Amino acid sequence: MAIQYLALSTMIVLYTLMFIGGYVSAAGLGLTCPEWPMCPDGIMPSEEYLIEWIHRLVAATTASLVVATMIASLINKNSDFKIKVTSSLATVLVITQIALGAMVIDMKLHAVLVAVHLGIGIFLFSMVLLTTLFAFRISKVSISSKV
Ligand code: HEM
Repeated sequence: MAIQYLALSTMIVLYTLMFIGGYVSAAGLGLTCPEWPMCPDGIMPSEEYLIEWIHRLVAATTASLVVATMIASLINKNSDFKIKVTSSLATVLVITQIALGAMVIDMKLHAVLVAVHLGIGIFLFSMVLLTTLFAFRISKVSISSKV
């Protein structure tokens, strides 16, 4: 897949995840699934854990997409230093965010951890947004160099 569409898909999935996270928080569903990474009834969740389970599944999908975008930007011959930095930072942030998600559960939704979880989510979104903008610039440069 072209790097710009990979980066754009990553951004859309991440944005959706932030909505789901907001819902988990606002609906008070943060501790319905008390274990990590799986809920007590394994891979397929019961209705009781569904929303939190969806948050985790979309988080895993987001992490895979963020890592794939970083690999694509590291191997693309038209990549510049900026996209390599933003996509690598996004990877560090997504791994931190998942570890923090586990800690939020473990520490029974400690307010500081929930606030940091939201803050890192916004920082992660800005890195993915910048990566997407840089990726569209790369694709423009490679098209104009072919003409
Ligand atoms: C890329 C990864 C992730 C992103 C971007 C993300 C983002 C968010 C956001 C934006 C919220 C709403 C915070 C608020 O409004 O206060 C949230 C809530 C939450 N997230 Fe995540 N999340 C991620 C991964 C995870 C993981 C892996 C887990 C746990 C396994 C997790 C557990 C939670 C919990 C329990 C809440 C609700 C906290 C509460 O009830 O106040 N998150 N997440």
